[in-house]
Amino acid sequence: MKHKRYQFSTAATDVYFDASLLQLGKLVGKQQAIIITDDHVYKAHASRLKGWNCIVLKPGEAYKVQATIDSIIEQLITMEADRKTTLVGIGGGVITDITGYVASVYMRGLPFGFVPTSLLGMVDASIGGKNGIDVGVYKNMVGIIRQPQFLLYDVSVLKTLPDAEWRNGFAEIIKHACIKDAALFSLLEKNGLAGFQKNKKLLASLVERNATIKIKVVQRDEFEKGERRLLNYGHTLGHALENQYELSHGQAVAIGMTYAAALSAKLNGFKQAERVVKVISQYGLPTYASFDKQKVFAVLKMDKKRERKDIHYILLEKIGKGVVQSVPLQQLEKNFQAL
Ligand SMILES: NC(=O)c1ccc[n+]([C@@H]2O[C@H](COP(=O)([O-])OP(=O)(O)OC[C@H]3O[C@@H](n4cnc5c(N)ncnc54)[C@H](O)[C@@H]3O)[C@@H](O)[C@H]2O)c1
Repeated sequence: MKHKRYQFSTAATDVYFDASLLQLGKLVGKQQAIIITDDHVYKAHASRLKGWNCIVLKPGEAYKVQATIDSIIEQLITMEADRKTTLVGIGGGVITDITGYVASVYMRGLPFGFVPTSLLGMVDASIGGKNGIDVGVYKNMVGIIRQPQFLLYDVSVLKTLPDAEWRNGFAEIIKHACIKDAALFSLLEKNGLAGFQKNKKLLASLVERNATIKIKVVQRDEFEKGERRLLNYGHTLGHALENQYELSHGQAVAIGMTYAAALSAKLNGFKQAERVVKVISQYGLPTYASFDKQKVFAVLKMDKKRERKDIHYILLEKIGKGVVQSVPLQQLEKNFQAL
């Protein structure tokens, strides 16, 4: 196992790239661990979870709510979990968000680690210490920032991930390339979804490269005062669209990145918007879309990143270089209507 330790403000995370789920026992003893996973992941990988104590949840965002936390807490009490117990979230972002949260509040905090099993989980959701749940329509309304003790990466589990979920993961990978890594952008242009799915070595290095991009951004700005905001590229409009239309997160972010690239061309003279649009569609994601701009703008105005009359919008200066820009809402609306 390739091991790297990353220090954050209050804790360090041991990251194991190129590892196998079967090596989990090297990081935490079977007696001491309780695994939290969901039905899909459990069914697909049951043989590798034999002998471990497991709490298996129903899959999906709809279960990332307080009622699930309550039921996990009841099970932890029954299983006599105490402060020596380590909770291990094995699943996509829903599972890791829930596990980190419950581990932070049960008995005022247990150690926890993650084995992300979705592509989005590997390159994004399991990293950075944000854990929490949704409240009604408000996503991630309640939570805590606390870093996992370890992250274990086994890209072979992605074999059972549905294609639509692969595409969701690629939306975040394209985001990383746009804001931080021009060479990664070229790599994405040269390959395609099937190419990465077929080549385990290429996939493992793609995952490691993207996970490292996020880890480094979070290390430099754990509490989102500046650089971490770049990770919201495509997300401001994306969240507003997700709120109004039946879109997956990846699809919404892809449309958001498209419009942010076009806006960057208008406001910053960004010259490579067409390349961004092309790579997004190369990975089976939507680009320009027809939507009710007025309605969506009304939601966007309520975004957390708004400060009085301005909004922090993430734009591109060039491929590989995102910038946080304060844009007056009025100007945004005008440009937005024209796109
Ligand atoms: N904490 C953060 O910083 C952060 C960042 C981004 C996203 N998130 C959160 O992550 C969540 C989205 O994550 P996600 O896209 O992984 O969703 P998810 O956890 O719902 O997983 C997507 C689907 O894939 C299935 N799945 C996962 N791994 C599988 C595998 N190996 N084989 C077969 N099926 C598998 C799941 O059961 C689920 O049905 C959202 O709740 C979002 O808010 C958190």
